Amino acid sequence: MSQPSLPRLGFVGAGRLARCLALSFSRAGYPVTAVASRTAASASRLASQIEHCAAFDDPQQVVDAADIIFLAVPDDSIGTTAHTLRFVADAASGQNGLTGKALVHCSGASPVELLAPARDQGASIGGFHPLYLFSGDLADLERIAGCSVTIEADGALKDALTALAVALRCHPLSIPAGGRMLYHAAAHYAASFALCSLAECVALWRTLGFAEDDALRALLPMLSGTIETARDKGLPNALAGPVSRGDTGVVEKQLALLEGLGGDHAALYGLLSRRAVGLAERRAKPPAAIEAIAEAVEESLNRSLNQAAAGASVK
Ligand SMILES: NC(=O)c1ccc[n+]([C@@H]2O[C@H](COP(=O)([O-])OP(=O)(O)OC[C@H]3O[C@@H](n4cnc5c(N)ncnc54)[C@H](OP(=O)(O)O)[C@@H]3O)[C@@H](O)[C@H]2O)c1
Repeated sequence: MSQPSLPRLGFVGAGRLARCLALSFSRAGYPVTAVASRTAASASRLASQIEHCAAFDDPQQVVDAADIIFLAVPDDSIGTTAHTLRFVADAASGQNGLTGKALVHCSGASPVELLAPARDQGASIGGFHPLYLFSGDLADLERIAGCSVTIEADGALKDALTALAVALRCHPLSIPAGGRMLYHAAAHYAASFALCSLAECVALWRTLGFAEDDALRALLPMLSGTIETARDKGLPNALAGPVSRGDTGVVEKQLALLEGLGGDHAALYGLLSRRAVGLAERRAKPPAAIEAIAEAVEESLNRSLNQAAAGASVK
C-alpha cells in the first residue's frame, strides 16, 4: 500500500522512458495516478499495468491528478506541452513536503527553463535525467539499477527527486543550472560514441574481409573487459595499446597507414590518440617515449586536418 506522505506521480508521454519509470516507481510504492500521451492507446497500455492509475486524453488531467508531473515527451515537444498546462498557485506545503505541484522533464539536453511557464504559475520545476538507454522492454526495470540520475532542482523538489532516484536503485547526481547541454554532449562518449568507435573498427576490418557479426563477436568481449578494468583500476591504468606501452614505431606506422586510406580515418585515430596520450601521461609512471608519440600524433593530425580543410575549401 502506498504511504500517504509520498507524492502522487503523473506522466505525460508513455514511451520507452515513461514505461520504465512509471512501473518502477509504482513497484517501489509510489502512487502513479495518471498517464496521458499523444495517442490514447499508449496511455491506456501503460496505465493498465499500474494499480489505481488512470489513462487520460488530455495532459491537463494529469496535472490535476498528480503532485509531480513528468513530461516524458520528445525534447521538441517539452516547451510546447509545458505552455499548454495550467497550474493553480498553492503556497501551502503538502503532506509530501512539496509546495504545490511540480513539473519535471527527463531530457539530458534540454534546459529546465523550458518549463518556465509552469514556474510562472507557482509550480516547482526540475530535471530528472536517467543516464541509461531505455529500450522500452521490461528488462529496463532491472537494468536501470546502479545507474545514475542527474537531477536539477531546488529545495523540496530536489529532495523528492533524489528520493525517486533512490527508489529506482540509482545514484543521484547533481549538475549546476544551465549545464545540461554540455553534460549531455559529453555523455555521448560513454554511449553512442562508444558504438561509433566500434563501427569504425568494423569498417576498417571489413577491408580485411570480416563480416560485421564476426567482428562484433571478437570485439565486444574486449570492450567489456576494458570497461571492467576501468571500473577496477581507473582510466589511465586501463589504457592498453601502443600509446600505453610507449611503442612509438607502431603508432607512427598506424597513423601513416590510415592517412594512406584517405577519408577521415587518420584524423579520427589521431584525435583519439591525442586523448590516449593524455591518459598515459596521468599514469604514475608514464611511458618514456610519450613525448615522441605525442609529436607523431600532432604531426599526423596537422597533415590530415589540413588536408580536410583544403578539401572543404575546394568544394
Ligand atoms: N530513451 C532513452 O533512452 C532516454 C534516456 C534518457 C532520457 N530520455 C528522455 O526522455 C524523454 C522521452 O524519451 P523516450 O525515449 O521515452 O521517447 P519515446 O519512446 O519516443 O516516447 C515519447 C512518448 O511521448 C508521447 N508524445 C509525443 N509527443 C507528445 C505530445 N505532444 N504530447 C503528449 N505525448 C506526446 C509519445 O506518444 P505516443 O506513444 O502516444 O505516440 C510517446 O509515448 C525525452 O525527453 C528523452 O530525451 C530518453
